[in-house]
Amino acid sequence: MNFAAITAVGHFLPEDRLTNAELEQMIDTSDEWIRTRTGIRERRILRDKDKATAYMAARAAENLLKKRGIDASEIDAIIVATVTPDMFFPSTACLVQAEIGATNAWGFDLSAACSGFLFGLSTGAKFIESGRHKKVLVIGADKMSSIIDYTDRTTCVLFGDGAAAVLLEPDSEGYGLIDSIERVDGSNWKMLCMHGGGSLNPPTHETVDQKMHYLRQEGRMVFRYAVEGMADVSAEIMERNGLTGDDIRYLVPHQANLRIIDATARRMGITRDKVMLNIERYGNTTAATIPLCLMDWEKDLRRGDNLILAAFGGGFTWGAAYLKWAYDGKDVAVDTEAEAAASH
Ligand SMILES: CC(C)(COP(=O)(O)OP(=O)(O)OC[C@H]1O[C@@H](n2cnc3c(N)ncnc32)[C@H](O)[C@@H]1OP(=O)(O)O)[C@@H](O)C(=O)NCCC(=O)NCCS
Repeated sequence: MNFAAITAVGHFLPEDRLTNAELEQMIDTSDEWIRTRTGIRERRILRDKDKATAYMAARAAENLLKKRGIDASEIDAIIVATVTPDMFFPSTACLVQAEIGATNAWGFDLSAACSGFLFGLSTGAKFIESGRHKKVLVIGADKMSSIIDYTDRTTCVLFGDGAAAVLLEPDSEGYGLIDSIERVDGSNWKMLCMHGGGSLNPPTHETVDQKMHYLRQEGRMVFRYAVEGMADVSAEIMERNGLTGDDIRYLVPHQANLRIIDATARRMGITRDKVMLNIERYGNTTAATIPLCLMDWEKDLRRGDNLILAAFGGGFTWGAAYLKWAYDGKDVAVDTEAEAAASH
């Protein structure tokens, strides 16, 4: 049987930073509160009015294709995980397909909030495992600044913009996605959602006046569910694959809150040095957090490393994946110009 292995990663981060010091000028908050309650120091914001999620996703895909040394026409399918598509339709995947010139690809958007990349990964893997496709792009991309109320201190400190992509290809030697768990429970959907803009509350002057086009959450409750959900599936996937903390090279957690990540790592018996953490620099980029971590740690990853990916998000959606890394990151040729353009 073929496994679906990640054979390349790419990313795009907007140039503009929004620091805690700047937020102190905008709302009643403090750098100290944000750092100790969330672990975030700054986030990236895509300020160009004429650019959105598809732009970032396409740049991440181009960054990946260049590193892998393949042409966009070789891509069979594009899955874009996002809750901030450029528009309801066409899908972001269509816009990315056209922008990068993936002339032989089909694709679609996947809506699973902060678990979007994880769900996209297991969905994309099915096309590879079945033998149907040879190259599937899975992209996590969100322009969270487009749905955040920058007068609401309980949400605006948490989120940032960004995109990252992985390429899935068949592997017959046992490397790639070994196992995954996906869960949804819609019964608490109101705890983290955007009420307006959809078919239930189409945009009107009233929905805008009521700020229904912004993300809303009950932070404390989401926190409780996230700690439990992420730790549960992470422990479960380790147990059913006979893994202990010692077997894991890295935990790759969704970056929502440092305290949620620490609780998950504790439950897995994993120390901080084995946890990929970049929340400090990017905040919560929703579907992009996990692939952005893989990107930041790529140089450090070796063929055969055991990774546990874990996420929790709106819906609620949550899950975990056990991945046996397929290549030596140190061997990836770095195009410094392309890297500088992607990461600023
Ligand atoms: C949002 C979150 C950081 C708040 O942290 P918390 O420790 O739960 O804080 P609480 O919500 O209990 O609020 C504590 C106090 O801080 C205040 N506060 C909230 N945001 C603040 C901010 N940015 N600056 C200063 N004070 C703030 C609250 O108003 C509250 O004040 P009160 O006690 O006078 O009412 C935390 O709940 C969280 O991360 N939740 C998960 C959110 C998430 O990850 N969502 C994305 C999907 S995974």
